[in-house]
Amino acid sequence: MKISSIGCVLFLIIFTSITIVSSSPGHGEVEDETEFNYEKEGDKGPSKWGTLKPEWAMCGKGKMQSPIDLWDKRFLLDPNLGYLRSNYLPSNATLKNRGHDIMLKFEGVNAGRGITINDTEYQLQQLHWHSPSEHTINGKRFFLEEHMVHESKDGRITVVAFFYKLGRLDPFLFSLERQLKRITDTHESEEYVGVIDPIRVDFESKHYYRYIGSLTSPPCSENVIWTISKEMKTVTLKQLDLLRVSVHDQSNTNARPLQRKNERPVAFYTPTWHM
Ligand SMILES: *[C@@H]1O[C@H](CO)[C@@H](O)[C@H](O)[C@H]1NC(C)=O
Ligand SMILES: *[C@@H]1O[C@H](CO)[C@@H](O)[C@H](O)[C@H]1NC(C)=O
Repeated sequence: MKISSIGCVLFLIIFTSITIVSSSPGHGEVEDETEFNYEKEGDKGPSKWGTLKPEWAMCGKGKMQSPIDLWDKRFLLDPNLGYLRSNYLPSNATLKNRGHDIMLKFEGVNAGRGITINDTEYQLQQLHWHSPSEHTINGKRFFLEEHMVHESKDGRITVVAFFYKLGRLDPFLFSLERQLKRITDTHESEEYVGVIDPIRVDFESKHYYRYIGSLTSPPCSENVIWTISKEMKTVTLKQLDLLRVSVHDQSNTNARPLQRKNERPVAFYTPTWHM
């Protein structure tokens, strides 16, 4: 009796500390994979996220949630958006299996550099992938979507996203193949990758959509500035499979369903508009 209650208390302490350690600080995305999933009818599926924890309430009641369909007819052509200015520096990176996706986390002193939007500097924290894509264009879904998550010193978040269609090998994913395979084969959840120059993610894009939304996974924090490239990358089926299989969550998707747009404007930047 006594021993088992001590055991129980010990278990609770250990469990609680694991939970505390594994939940990310601030507004960032949740890293504990078991807390939510993408099963449509499941207890932890997307329609339930908002009820699972008080701090995830926005997932259910938020009015500026992501993803959304990017629909041409409501575009506001905005010549003032300008080119994205980036000042990334090479950083140490670790590939991490979050159970619902694969994330490349940037660490160390240089992880601080990033992009500037409206005179605010945002630092690149991590990037991860969703398949199929979460956002759609005119209802069309793509094979894969990459999210580069940035945060400013005062906790504001901006995400730069890329779609992928099937085609040629993506060189950046190819450079991570060894580590991705290791995560898959050994079921280890982390692989140190080494120094990565985020410039290689190739994010110079001249045509992009811009709107204000949220994180697409809990806690679904709002006021996230989205920049979604219209220029697409390509990926092979094999690369797509490797990304999906290495999550080993028995699920074939990690895309949140589309959310209500609620009259939010979507701006579209294209340099030719000046002519
Ligand atoms: C990456 O990590 C190694 C080992 O800790 C360190 O020597 C190196 O300076 C780091 N590089 C960068 C760019 O932060
Ligand atoms: C940038 O600043 C302008 C002017 O203050 C504002 O109208 C616009 O909404 C801002 N854009 C973003 C993405 O914050």
